[in-house]
Amino acid sequence: MTTVYTNIKELFQIRDASIKRVIGSQMKECPSIKNAFIKIKDGVIEDFGIMSDLVVVENQDQIVDVQNTIVTPGYVDSHTHLVFAATREKEFEDRINGLTYEQIAARGGGILNSAARLQNMSEDELYEQALIRLKEVVKTGTTSIEIKSGYGLSMEGELKMLRVIKRLKETELSPGVFMSIKATFLGAHAVPLNYKDNKQGYVDFIIAEMLPKVASENLADYIDVFCEKNYFSVSQMVQILEAGAKYGLKAKVHVNQFNALGAIEKAVEHNAISVDHLEVLEDEDLISLSNSNTIATALPSCSFFLGLDYTPVHDLMDKDIAVALASDYNPGSTPSGNLNFVFSLACIKMKMTPQQAFNALTINAAAAVELDESVGSITKGKRADLLFFKNIDDLAGIPYNFGTSQIDKVMISGTFM
Ligand code: NIG
Ligand code: FE
Repeated sequence: MTTVYTNIKELFQIRDASIKRVIGSQMKECPSIKNAFIKIKDGVIEDFGIMSDLVVVENQDQIVDVQNTIVTPGYVDSHTHLVFAATREKEFEDRINGLTYEQIAARGGGILNSAARLQNMSEDELYEQALIRLKEVVKTGTTSIEIKSGYGLSMEGELKMLRVIKRLKETELSPGVFMSIKATFLGAHAVPLNYKDNKQGYVDFIIAEMLPKVASENLADYIDVFCEKNYFSVSQMVQILEAGAKYGLKAKVHVNQFNALGAIEKAVEHNAISVDHLEVLEDEDLISLSNSNTIATALPSCSFFLGLDYTPVHDLMDKDIAVALASDYNPGSTPSGNLNFVFSLACIKMKMTPQQAFNALTINAAAAVELDESVGSITKGKRADLLFFKNIDDLAGIPYNFGTSQIDKVMISGTFM
């Protein structure tokens, strides 16, 4: 039995299966059909088109009239740290009182604070808390997600986080419905206290001990490094990416958040799927990216929360680089996984048009986690991961209504959540 949703006010992000991503100059277009239908069978988009072309087969099609509704593909959140043990409000207050994110980290707060809290939490509790957050972000339209480790910083801690992510992948959100989740191993997120004076020793430990174990349990899809002053150098990032590649882990890396160290060129050389943050970009970085297939991911909620610069997305798009947007949901720099808000920030603070931002949140974000074959657009054969919006007249109505969600219903694999 197929279900046909009819009289859709406008159906957005219609793409041919051959379109895997949208480069900068093409991001201003987001193809749509007005007065449309969409047919869903076994959780997959079987057909769609204008109402006048709809052929209904009696006894085989179930009709649901959704007039006054805008339908889009679900958001793909290609960069999150959704598994964590505790929130960090104290650091938030410290920043209000004048300390910087880097100063807080330098005195043992930040990522190390989260790592300390995570060591003492059981895998079960970590899982329960993460599942609550996952269900929360589904409500605001996230239908596929990437989740990183990186608050373990020890063998047990990192494995615990990755096993939680694996359990989330195996969790039925509704009978028979699983979310598309990608796991990223971020052992090199910060230098743990026991390696304080031996950073290279920790890098060697990641490569010689952690990676083989992560790979043998098949716990990760990608490898990540926080390449930044006081964290990991470009050369250490390269060592880790090369080691990860031997286990088939492709790179998605944190680079250029505070400093341009030349990491982008190296990440591109190592075929990174995406480079993320990019608040600070130099000309060479743009040149490296424009000659590559690497997706540039901006995280505007992080800039908003820390009160820092936003990624210069127009410089990227002007060079025809494919830009994605993600939440960076984490307890330190971005305690929010609401992509509707990311959408608003992209338009308001980074001056992306609603069409550009929507491409960055769907098709390009899907490419940034290699899910472009299955999600990210309205394409025959893709998963029916859809958002149903009421009370808006156009795509612009989503970011315009900032701070709220205009989503009426979220569908994953053809099932309303
Ligand atoms: O992407 N920059 C590094 N990692 C996270 C923040 C982690 C934290 O503060 O807990 C980020 O912003
Ligand atoms: Fe991050």
